[in-house]
Formats: sequence, C-alpha cells, structure tokens
Amino acid sequence: MQLIDGKAVAAQMRKEIAEEVLRIRQSGGKIPHLAAVLVGHDGGSETYVANKVRTCEEVGFQSSLIRYEEDVTEEELLACVDRLNRDADIDGFIVQLPLPDHISEQKIIEAIDYRKDVDGFHPINVGRMSIGLPCYVSATPAGILELLRRYEIETKGKHCVVLGRSNIVGKPMAMLMMQKNYPGNCTVTVCHSRSENLKEMCLSADIIVVALGVPEFLKADMVKEGAVVIDVGTTRMPSSVTRSGYKLAGDVKFDEVSPKCSYITPVPGGVGPMTILSLMRNTLHAGKKSIYE
Ligand code: GUN
Repeated sequence: MQLIDGKAVAAQMRKEIAEEVLRIRQSGGKIPHLAAVLVGHDGGSETYVANKVRTCEEVGFQSSLIRYEEDVTEEELLACVDRLNRDADIDGFIVQLPLPDHISEQKIIEAIDYRKDVDGFHPINVGRMSIGLPCYVSATPAGILELLRRYEIETKGKHCVVLGRSNIVGKPMAMLMMQKNYPGNCTVTVCHSRSENLKEMCLSADIIVVALGVPEFLKADMVKEGAVVIDVGTTRMPSSVTRSGYKLAGDVKFDEVSPKCSYITPVPGGVGPMTILSLMRNTLHAGKKSIYE
C-alpha cells in the first residue's frame, strides 16, 4: 500500500507557482490577483477562505478578501460580483459556498464572468470541461487528477466508481475520468444515496473516489484487493485533543480499507491540500490570460 501524500505534492506545486510568479515579477508582468467573497461566519468557510488568502501570499499573488454579514441581500451580492467582473485588476474571484438560504447560489455563480471564474463553477466552464475544451476546472477534481498524474497511476481502461454526484466534486470528477486523455479513459460509474447496488459497484472498481461527506462510509468489504482509493471527505468532528476543537473525518474507514489498497489518500493530508493549490493554478492561468483572453 502506498500513501498518496497530498501535502507533499501541494508543497511542490506551491514552489512551482511561486517560481513562476517570480519570473512574472522579474519580467515586469502582471501579478495575479485573486479576490474571495465570504458571506457570514461559518467556521468551515472562514478556515477555507483564510487558507486561500494565506496561500496567495505564499506564492506571491495579490489577494483581496471581501466580507459580508449573513443578512446581505442577493442584490448587494450581485452588485459585488458585477464590480469584480469589471475590475481590471482582479484576474479571478470566488464566492465561497454555501451561501445563506435567501440567496440563490446558482444566480450568483451565473453572474460571475466565466473568464474570471477560477472555481470553474459557471455553466460555461462546466460545459467546456465536459467536451474537453480549455477551461477552469473545479479545484477538488483538478487536485485529484494532479495526484493521479504525479503518482503515475494507470487509469486507462480501468473501472472508476465515483461515490457522490455534487456539482462541485462528483459530477466533474466523473466527466474528467471518462475523458479521452490521461488521467482518464476510465469506464465510469456514479453512485449516490439512491443507488441500490452500490457495494457491488465498489467491489468491481479499480479506482474509487468517495465524495459523500459521510464519515467512514467506505468499508473494507466494499473494496477489492489492489484498488486505488481517493477520499474527498472532510467532515468536521468535535475533538478534545486538537487546539481547533475539531478534527477532520474522511469518508473511508482508513484503518481497515488501507491494507487492501495499492494507493490511498489520507484525511487530512490527501486531497484537501491539493484543492487550494488547484485554485492557485487556475488563478495563475487567469493572471496570464492563458485560458481566456
Ligand atoms: N465551498 C466548498 N468548496 C468550495 C470551493 O471549492 N469553492 C467555493 N467557492 N466554495 C466552496
């Protein structure tokens, strides 16, 4: 069993991006500028956005954090998106999800200029990804592809089972694993909460990507010998031993599943660290206008 060290790969990517920013700086080019919009004070969102802003600093990007209280109106948020769309200094921006119930996430996402949508959530980016055109790919699936690439894990002709069908992870992951490219060329099955034969599907999988948000969902009796297991779960569990007061739980029962795997990602330190670096890479592309003019 080989552990996929997302923390180490993310550190390597951080170094590569920082070197590229240095080259841009030395040649007098535009320093990439990412803006993040945060609504309310959800603990998870606060942490994610703080990490995104900190990573921007580490790689040498400019960053702006725009905060709103929980009671911001949809109109105010749409006006903010419009300002960011028109601000020539902002290369890319994200609106951290989830948003409060009185705001339509889809309306906000569709208001973002797809050329600045470094989250890759806008229908134009999702559509372009689906048909294999250059675009911004959402960060978690892009991070997983990068791990498969850097560990040179064979995917061609393999059966990949994706557990979960979210717009952010499950659906794009399934699309990417079936694309006619490496990593890809898989036979893909998507299972979800209504799937009846989920265990049988998993048992026939060479690669399993678990993105359900259900701690320890994937058990040893669902995994065949030699499978590759990618755990996207990041459920916050209360803990009395950590300083933050919580610890992250993955979707895989790691202790019993890992001995059966050829490769497996841990939680924390697997997919998580890669997600932010994928966003940084998208922002680098946005700064260089290398995907869209
Ligand atoms: N909430 C959870 N993951 C993400 C993400 O990748 N981007 C945004 N904007 N919100 C999220």
